[in-house]
Amino acid sequence: MSRFRVIIDADPGVDDAAAILMALASPEIDVLGLSIVAGNVPLQDTLTNACKIVGVSGRNDVSIHAGAAGPLVRDQVFGRYARIGSFSDELVPHSSMVPAEEHAVRFIVRLAREAAEAGDLITICAIGPMTNIALALVQHPDVARGIGQIVSMGGAFTALGHRTPWAEFNVLADPHAAEIVYRSGVPIVVMPLDLTFQALFTAEHFKSFGDCGAAAGCALCNLFSTFDRSDVARFGRPGGPIHDAMTIAWLIRPELFASRKATVGTQVAGLTMGYTYADFHRMLDRPPNATVVTNVDEAGFINLLIERISLYGSAVPDSKRCEA
Ligand code: RIB
Ligand code: CA
Repeated sequence: MSRFRVIIDADPGVDDAAAILMALASPEIDVLGLSIVAGNVPLQDTLTNACKIVGVSGRNDVSIHAGAAGPLVRDQVFGRYARIGSFSDELVPHSSMVPAEEHAVRFIVRLAREAAEAGDLITICAIGPMTNIALALVQHPDVARGIGQIVSMGGAFTALGHRTPWAEFNVLADPHAAEIVYRSGVPIVVMPLDLTFQALFTAEHFKSFGDCGAAAGCALCNLFSTFDRSDVARFGRPGGPIHDAMTIAWLIRPELFASRKATVGTQVAGLTMGYTYADFHRMLDRPPNATVVTNVDEAGFINLLIERISLYGSAVPDSKRCEA
């Protein structure tokens, strides 16, 4: 089986944690490392959270790289759960993992150049504000040749925004970075709120994460049970989205999704900064620059995430199982 060679660029983040653990458990994916950015919470907390998540995965071979502490141009905004800061030890155990010396942007540049040299392109799963990726592309445009695709969770086209009425958070937090990535010429897969809102996870699903009895599953169960992401008024039914894990599911089981080509972009200034548009009908004089993922098999995605997290339990002796 040929594996995807993946850098996960993240701002952990509860749903980032699910994406990272799903990727680390999936044989189809070779996680080359994590590049971490400020977003949901400040950089020092996203770094701590990344180290904790990799710690509970048991994959101490995975490198974690500190990246941008803020957006390229706009004032900094944090996620809805900014008050969380770093995950408490009760929710996710302390980890001895520490970030690597190499800055996230240097890490992305180095791996992309090596990939271009070797003819074995990398995938970047962009599940936070895209500041690190934009910096790599602007400072060293040649690295685009080493990036086969950027699978990004971000934007909102038919759905309204959730941090402002018009914007999804990852794009809102750094719209200039998003526009640089969208216009970079690198093949982009865009997974917007329109899509991620189609799959809602409930308490029984969170319990399923913990049923495996491994630290990773229990940490996820703890996180999702503690930080309620449901919104019946908005979604019309119980449950909440796990946005970022969809980027991993897209690589593993693309048949769960439907997608269309479009020209996408975002507004980088003014009241509606962070607003994203998708032109599916060639109304603009610009060729399509993205694959926009429009639909997901909800049950298929939910079951895939649960199944992959359950793989952590296969390595845990009964004596060491946690109580979720
Ligand atoms: O809008 C959802 C996105 O913003 C997710 O990636 C979440 O983790 C936050 O980064
Ligand atoms: Ca995220």
